[in-house]
Amino acid sequence: MKCDTELAGQKVPAGAVVMVMLAAANRDERQFSNPDVFDIDRSDRGSVAFGHGIHSCIGMALAKMEVRITLGELLPRFRQFERVGPPAPWNHTFLVRTLTSLRLRGVPA
Ligand code: HEM
Repeated sequence: MKCDTELAGQKVPAGAVVMVMLAAANRDERQFSNPDVFDIDRSDRGSVAFGHGIHSCIGMALAKMEVRITLGELLPRFRQFERVGPPAPWNHTFLVRTLTSLRLRGVPA
């Protein structure tokens, strides 16, 4: 912060480093209904998965297209996916939460 300020009731002194926890923001129950539930039909707006503002993700359109193409090719071929092996540990990063890996076996349609 360039100067002393207050954010959501917290005093933030000049010089303090403020980190935005995007993953936590996406689970804000004031913004999203049932925020901890994976709901593929969710209609709430305001996800910050790709950031927000001037530094929001430059690769967002590419990432969404990759997911669309990947799922479009996989889903017709398999009727379900099963996890192989034990649950993978999470990467502990500040910005986004990701699995270290996710091994799946597809059951053919
Ligand atoms: C699902 C995939 C992706 C997610 C969830 C994601 C997420 C994000 C987030 C949250 C930010 C903002 C970071 C901040 O606030 O400082 C960001 C920035 C950025 N992303 Fe992505 N990203 C993805 C894919 C990609 C891809 C495919 C590319 C490039 C081909 C890319 C390139 C960038 C770049 C260059 C920035 C920095 C933009 C800036 O600082 O002005 N990202 N991304």
